[in-house]
Amino acid sequence: MDQADVEQLETTLFLEALYQRHGYDFRNYAQASIHRRVRRLMDKAGAASVSGMIPLLLHDAGFLPLVVETLSVNVSEMFRDPAFFTLLRTEVIPYLKTFPFIKVWHAGCASGEEVYSLAMVFREEGFYDRTTIFATDVNPMVVEQAKAGVYSLDAVKSYAANYQQSGGKAAFSDYYLALHGWAIMDASLRENVTFAPHNLATDGVFGEMHLILCRNVLIYFDRSLQNRVLRLFDESLVHGGIMALGSKESLNGSELAGRYQPVNAKWRIHKKIAGDAPDLLTGCLPGPEALEAGGE
Ligand SMILES: C[S@@+](CC[C@H](N)C(=O)[O-])C[C@H]1O[C@@H](n2cnc3c(N)ncnc32)[C@H](O)[C@@H]1O
Repeated sequence: MDQADVEQLETTLFLEALYQRHGYDFRNYAQASIHRRVRRLMDKAGAASVSGMIPLLLHDAGFLPLVVETLSVNVSEMFRDPAFFTLLRTEVIPYLKTFPFIKVWHAGCASGEEVYSLAMVFREEGFYDRTTIFATDVNPMVVEQAKAGVYSLDAVKSYAANYQQSGGKAAFSDYYLALHGWAIMDASLRENVTFAPHNLATDGVFGEMHLILCRNVLIYFDRSLQNRVLRLFDESLVHGGIMALGSKESLNGSELAGRYQPVNAKWRIHKKIAGDAPDLLTGCLPGPEALEAGGE
């Protein structure tokens, strides 16, 4: 066994310990990226080896937040990929408006930049009052940031161009209050949002969703975990529901591909055209009804 094999084994043991001790399941993440992040964790923890971090994981409760923060990549932006948000406005929302009321599951929402973007688009299209949004992420710390809706002012200012490019209809600066270098997002944008931790690797479905948005999350998973998550989404969507993935993520090649038709292939927007799938996942909730509504 060479050094690389030993590190591979140590990483497997570390991820297994993380799962068994704390329930966070990073075992089926794409290998190259998880190895990079485990090494970064070693640096932060000042550990000489991956296995040297296992006792910390087992016995030091204070170590867990650093582990979750380092293993999950939480980078996000408002109106990232403006063309995607234009399509949401011009193609997806007019279709969703044919339903009297819609439920949205925003999975892997990170610190909420995309959630606020979505709320702005819904509001400007006169649709927000008919929506309920469930915004979830595996990392409870970023879920708290999303709930708070406070971002660095410089970062938020830098999103204004994306917003305009996406077809924004208002003055972007009306959506936040600038205070001492921070942008405090307008609380009314999260009136219909429930934020909650949810782990796509281990938790169950959110039923009867009309739109599922999960962008730039599946790229971190291996094929088997990607398939699990796609099946979870499939089970959560109503017939005719919309699944929107990131630009580098795809239903192509998955067992579910035949159950969807493209709304826009380039921007990975798909419409569910088939009924219930055979052999579906059985849910282990927290489902939306178990979560406190209101987002605060
Ligand atoms: C790169 S961010 C994407 C954020 C946002 N969707 C965007 O595109 O701007 C990936 C997010 O996926 C979350 N994530 C990773 N593994 C997850 C899992 N098993 N369940 C739920 N969320 C997960 C991470 O915590 C992180 O916030």
